[in-house]
Parts: sequence; C-alpha cells; structure tokens
Amino acid sequence: MFFVIIRLMLTDQIRNLKNEAIGEILEAKDASEIENTRATFLGRSGKLNQLTKEIPNLALEEKKHLGQLINEVKINIESAIEQSLEKLNVKNFQNKWFDVTLPGIRPEQGHLHLITQAISEITNIFTELGFHRARYPEAEWDWYAFEGLNMSQNHPARDEWETFFIKDLDNKKYGKGVLTPHTSSGQLREMEKYSPPIRMLNIAKCYRRQSDMSHAPMFYQFEGLVVDKNINISHLKGTIDYFTKKYFGPDRKSRIRPFHFQFTEPSFEVDVTCLICHGKGCRTCKQGWMELGGSGMVHPTILKNAGIDPEKYTGFAFGWGVERVMMMKYGIPDIRLLFDGDLRFLKQF
Ligand code: FA5
Repeated sequence: MFFVIIRLMLTDQIRNLKNEAIGEILEAKDASEIENTRATFLGRSGKLNQLTKEIPNLALEEKKHLGQLINEVKINIESAIEQSLEKLNVKNFQNKWFDVTLPGIRPEQGHLHLITQAISEITNIFTELGFHRARYPEAEWDWYAFEGLNMSQNHPARDEWETFFIKDLDNKKYGKGVLTPHTSSGQLREMEKYSPPIRMLNIAKCYRRQSDMSHAPMFYQFEGLVVDKNINISHLKGTIDYFTKKYFGPDRKSRIRPFHFQFTEPSFEVDVTCLICHGKGCRTCKQGWMELGGSGMVHPTILKNAGIDPEKYTGFAFGWGVERVMMMKYGIPDIRLLFDGDLRFLKQF
C-alpha cells in the first residue's frame, strides 16, 4: 500500500514536470532558452533524474511502471525540443530571407550579342539619313547574286565570291540556287519592288568558302543603295563620311580609292584612318588606312536589269562587313572571337 502511494505521488510529479518542461519549451524565444530547459529537465542533475533517485527503493511492479513513464516523458520532452528548434530555424530563415527590405540576389543578366548591337547601331545611323532597313534572302538565285549584277556565267569576277551552290536547286529563269555571297543581291530585288527614289539598307547574312583571322564562312554585310534623279559621287562620299564619323568617332577620316566591281561604274574601295596610329602608319594598317569595303555608282546595266531608266535615274551603292567594321572600331584582332561564344570576351562589351 505504501509503495502504491509513493508511485501515485511520483507519477503526478513526473507528469507535472513534463507539462512544465513543454510549457517552457513552447514559450522559449530562441535556441539557447530551449537548451537551458533541456538541461533543467533532462540533464544529469536535472529535475527528472532527481525524481528517479526514489525509484530503486520501490517494489518491482512500481519500478517498472515509473521507469516506463519516465522514458515516455523523456521522449515527449525531446520531441517537443526538436519541433521547437525546427520552428525557430524556419522562422529565422524566413526572417532572414523574406525581409522585403533586404536587397535581393540579382540574377545574372546577359546582353544582346555584339553583332546584333552593331546591326542596330548601323541601322540607326542610316535611318537618320532616310534609309529604310531591308532584309533580302540568304538562299538566293544566281540571277540576283551574279548574272543580273553583270557577272555572266563563267565570268572570272565571280571567283572573288567563293560561292556555296545549293545542290539540285535550279531555276529556268533565275539559274542555280546559291547561299548569297553578298548583300548586293538585294539591289535588284529592292529596285523590282520599289520605284525611285530608293534609299535601302539591306543587312543580311552572307556565305563564302573562306575562313581565317579576318574571314568567316558566314558573316553579315550591310548594303546601301540610293537611286534617284541627279545622284552623284559627292552623295556617296558624303554618306561615307557621315557614317565614318558617327560610327567610328569624329576624329576618324575616310577616303575612296579607284577599284573595279562589275555592278558599279566607277567603283571604289573605301578606307578609314587606322584606329591605332590615326593615319600616321603602323604595323596593323596600310600606311595609316584600313579597308572598309566596296562602293560605287550603280552601273546603268543594273538599273536596266531592274526596269529603271538609266537616262533618268542614277544611284550609288556600297557594301561592307558588319564584323569587319566592329573589328576596326574596337581593335578586335580575330573575327572568330565574335562567333566563339566565349563569355570572357563577350562580357567586355
Ligand atoms: C562585295 O561583297 C561587294 N558586294 C561590295 C559592294 C557593294 C561593292 C555595292 C560595290 C557596291 P567584297 O567582296 O569586297 O565586296 O566584300 C565587302 C566587305 O564584306 C569586305 O570589305 C569585308 O568587310 C566583308 N567581307 C567579305 N568577305 C568576308 C568574310 N568571309 N568574312 C567577313 N567579312 C567579309
């Protein structure tokens, strides 16, 4: 009877301790308060262990009963501690990461590819002069790329364009299919589509069987074409000067040199003063000048081929490489850098 009374008293005390401990755990504000509660109740000289000191003196039955109860209570308190610590962790995490006043983590942002940037810069410059942006086919007929531009079949001038022909593609009227080797193929298409006055800026991909530091098998050209009454060389030179100063900077100069193209007469190569020596002459340039591309007055035969009367209208045209003008602006030594996709290079722009 005596043992039963002791057992009942201890049972009560153990349950009270459990409630007390869980109450403290729930009210704890941080992890250190919880750890203190753990020590107070479950520690070696904690409140629960103090009570167990009484147990060895009891009868076997009572010992068993109280032993089990103490184990259960220990497990309950431990699991309350774990849950509270977890809640506090989540809360800390939320406080830390969901505080809207803290600066966020900026996701890394890319930018338009250099060539796309150059295309829009070039387009803006020519739009200021009244040119409209056009884009004619990359897969083209021989007529538009060569024959209609005064380069008949087997004409040696064709060799310059090192062309890719499209297998098994042949048209009775327009000849073989080609990957256009220059944007001049857009000249005839533009003149067929619109009557003068014409101010076209055709920017498109071109293809040639070439590959080295300054040649890519796929590259972009931009082609200007102006056809109107009384157009002369001074209009061409004025346009070249405007572009040079706008794109390369006010201290760069341009010049035209006599050359030969089948579709312009007279024809010129256009040069710009060297980025490095500014016209004095250095190892990277030709006596102070760097070559920009071709130009000239539209050949009367080309106007006729497009159904425009060369007695009434004259015009000028030019065609330059987008990658090449960029290389000349920024001093990029190898065209392949523009196509490699190496972020160490691209991030510099
Ligand atoms: C032409 O393609 C003529 N259609 C240009 C023209 C247009 C002349 C209108 C007269 C009137 P050319 O082959 O020189 O010309 O090429 C012009 C420019 O394109 C070159 O100066 C160069 O800047 C660029 N280019 C040519 N081939 C490549 C290539 N493989 N890779 C990169 N750029 C190239």
